[in-house]
Amino acid sequence: MRVFVDCDPGIDDAVALAYLTADPGVELVGLGTVYGNNSVEVTTDNALRLLRLYGRPDVPVAKGAARPLVQPPHLAEKVHGANGLGDVETEPAQARAVAESAAELLVRTARSAPGEIDLLAVGPLTNIALALNLEPELPSLLRRVVVMGGAVRVPGNVTPWAEANISNDPEAAEVVLGAGFDLTLVALDVTMRAVAREPWLARLAEFQGDRAQRTSGFLDFYSGYYTHIYGERACAMHDPLAAAVLLDPAITTESVRTAVRVELKGEHTRGLTIADLRDLPNTSDERPKVTLVTETDSEVFLDRMLDALH
Ligand code: BDR
Ligand code: CA
Repeated sequence: MRVFVDCDPGIDDAVALAYLTADPGVELVGLGTVYGNNSVEVTTDNALRLLRLYGRPDVPVAKGAARPLVQPPHLAEKVHGANGLGDVETEPAQARAVAESAAELLVRTARSAPGEIDLLAVGPLTNIALALNLEPELPSLLRRVVVMGGAVRVPGNVTPWAEANISNDPEAAEVVLGAGFDLTLVALDVTMRAVAREPWLARLAEFQGDRAQRTSGFLDFYSGYYTHIYGERACAMHDPLAAAVLLDPAITTESVRTAVRVELKGEHTRGLTIADLRDLPNTSDERPKVTLVTETDSEVFLDRMLDALH
């Protein structure tokens, strides 16, 4: 499987990269960065550091958007630490970002192997919207897209209505979700229930080697942040769950096909992801449907994650 990742590392982005790089069946063909959990300068440096840590410094990394299409960015240092990786030190990057933008690298990579590349998008969707501007045929050039973002039947994590990746660039998300990709959406509805708790975190902390030890350090910070939500040291594995949904069909145990729109105007609800979950056979809605994941096997998922980090 050939995978292009667009991300904003970010602690859970880091764990998703650990998982992808551990799978011998995955060929990581490129990585785009975007502002989000931190500035794009920091997320790009983190991506390069993480690819070194996880043994894939050869993967081309392209720096992407520094800001959303319309509004100013909203960074998340409180959740991911001042350096975006839980204030854990990592070895400096040896490689540099390529000269192209993330959108350009994505388009060039997709054109080089039409119908063969899968995209995992786990940051704000600005780069993907920009790539659609460069190449309107992108939905037919990519095989499949898995997006971590949105909150359909559960509260958001930035506002009561909006999840971070969508809330950071609602205009981009609205375009990407309606563009006609073969797209699977992994929203907070399932990621907030894919929780790494104390026994899982303790097992990871026992693993030897830099890869596991640094990742354990990232998650130590992350689970500190999430304590106020789960009432114990624990953390939601948002981006890793999206990676697992992409890699392994057994992780998704329930899903629905539905159109998903993003609220762009609402006085209180800007950034809300609206899925039409009514069963309306004769609907005249022309908007392309996406696959909304509604249930996952989080036990199998968490086992896979530990295996990957061992
Ligand atoms: C998403 O927002 C970011 O903070 C995380 O990395 C994840 O992609 C969760 O809402
Ligand atoms: Ca992310």
